[in-house]
Amino acid sequence: MQLTYYGHACLAIEVNGKKILFDPFITPNELAKGKVDINQIECDYIFISHGHSDHVADVVEIAKRTNATCVSSFEIIEWLGKQGLTNLHPMNTGGKWNFDFGTVKCVVAQHSSGLPDGSYGGNPMGFLLTSTAGNFYYAGDTALTMDMQLIPGWVQLDFAILPIGDNFTMDIQDAVMAANFVQAKTVVGMHYDTFGFIKINHQEALDAFQDKGIQLLLPEIGQTIQI
Ligand code: NI
Ligand code: MN
Repeated sequence: MQLTYYGHACLAIEVNGKKILFDPFITPNELAKGKVDINQIECDYIFISHGHSDHVADVVEIAKRTNATCVSSFEIIEWLGKQGLTNLHPMNTGGKWNFDFGTVKCVVAQHSSGLPDGSYGGNPMGFLLTSTAGNFYYAGDTALTMDMQLIPGWVQLDFAILPIGDNFTMDIQDAVMAANFVQAKTVVGMHYDTFGFIKINHQEALDAFQDKGIQLLLPEIGQTIQI
């Protein structure tokens, strides 16, 4: 699979010819300035883990231009409908759906999910994607939770995308434990460095994962990797 990192918790993964974008937050991200042009982003789907502005900021603009299908909690999808979007797929934690690229199951994220205008966003979630091209877990914003131990019973992961920035989510050490819970040997780090509260030492992160035999990938903003 091809993965392009757009900064913070936003990345796109191409699965069986479909481009799936997660949690678009690009135009307000100082670190992405000059590195990512949102008008160049093509996608067939936009998955949204929860309602916080650092995850939904560019959803409406990108979805209107690309006509991508937006997938999220029932409440966030209702809210996107009020913003004028029509290509919408509501889901909720525990449920799964067979899309044209593979299957996505919505899993527990331990976080919160208010929308930027104060609307209720339902529960936050992570996404577990299985496909003929490979399997991965996009955790969204979450604490370390025992629920992650359920994941290997559902799917054997090729990689996991985990928050590592601390303060709002797991820190590096908890993310290492999460990687063990979900039995992922390759991890893509996200939700770090964007704001003062979540700045991390990259070498410390790389070493912490390597100590447990796990490969941590920290792609540059705008970089595309094969995974
Ligand atoms: Ni959040
Ligand atoms: Mn966040």
